[in-house]
Amino acid sequence: MQRVLSGIQPSGDVHLGNLLGALQNWVADQHTHESFHPIVDLHAVTVPQDPAELQTATLRLAQMLMASGLDPDICVLFVQSHVPEHTQLAWVLECTAGFGELRRMHQFKDKSADMDFVCAGLFTYPVLQAADIVLYDTDVVPVGDDQRQHIELTRDITQRFNARYGEVLVVPEHRIPPAGARVMDLQEPTRKMSKSADEAPGTIWLLDEPDTVRRKIRRAVTDSEAEVRFDREAKPGVSNLLEILGAATGRSPQEVAAGYDRYGELKNGCAEAVVELLAPIRRRFDELSTDPGETQRALAAGAETAGEIATATMARVREAMGFLPRG
Ligand code: TYM
Repeated sequence: MQRVLSGIQPSGDVHLGNLLGALQNWVADQHTHESFHPIVDLHAVTVPQDPAELQTATLRLAQMLMASGLDPDICVLFVQSHVPEHTQLAWVLECTAGFGELRRMHQFKDKSADMDFVCAGLFTYPVLQAADIVLYDTDVVPVGDDQRQHIELTRDITQRFNARYGEVLVVPEHRIPPAGARVMDLQEPTRKMSKSADEAPGTIWLLDEPDTVRRKIRRAVTDSEAEVRFDREAKPGVSNLLEILGAATGRSPQEVAAGYDRYGELKNGCAEAVVELLAPIRRRFDELSTDPGETQRALAAGAETAGEIATATMARVREAMGFLPRG
């Protein structure tokens, strides 16, 4: 069985982009792959986090992932900081990654652009991500389009490590879904839907009420033409709705476009598909919220399983690199 790994940050709530670009594919994969899903709290602290809020957000994210369909009985759901080997491997991979290649990362450039203080961790963030992946001998990394460059970097670092120390690490591949890989903000469809969007009207949260979803989609920015056609460059707003509806119903945006003549109908169809997709998630989240202990137990079991594999990989890495065993 191939092994899949993909993580998500506990900063802000989960939005529709996370669900369509990543999460719903993880849910499908868990039946056909050995699946590992860390909640990457160490990545979240590359920007300041309120300690009490981080704790709450981490547990809430675990509940949200389980509500979305990740089943901790068949996949390994865990908190990154519970497995210390992530940072141990990150250090040795930092000694394999080039300063120049990290400086070329788009996400670093975008995120650091408006910051007064840029911590070193934000710069080395993609190497910690590489460690998350190779620690578990991952074959495939299912992610949204914004992570493509990070996974390519992971491959480069891993290949360089293996060239130096022998075939120690598995070189992973990314998998980006045909629809939903890049869900855009509904109000500014040239910007990706994101957790840190200041304005909520362009972001659909997993726990939004049906009427809120309908309102946000009805008000989504389109264009002054009247033709329903998939063309990201010329028609970003309409294309985004087609992409959302396609990803929510397992079709390509082009197939979806063939079924609509008017923007109003497309918006209604899109809103109803999203409402239907989110309804069971909200229900299950409410149930899980009544018993946080259940989620905490699942995370503890996940960390146990993850820790065993992580320990074995680090032992291989230490031996290959020539670190003296403790004796
Ligand atoms: P994060 O937490 O920003 O996002 C989690 C997943 O959601 C996808 N995604 C989107 N997909 C489509 N449209 C969007 N608008 C959208 N926004 C987010 C992301 O591509 C991602 O798959 N660095 C990663 C977390 C990470 C990770 C890893 C991922 C840490 N270690 C190891 C894979 C493997 C991040 O910040 O994702």
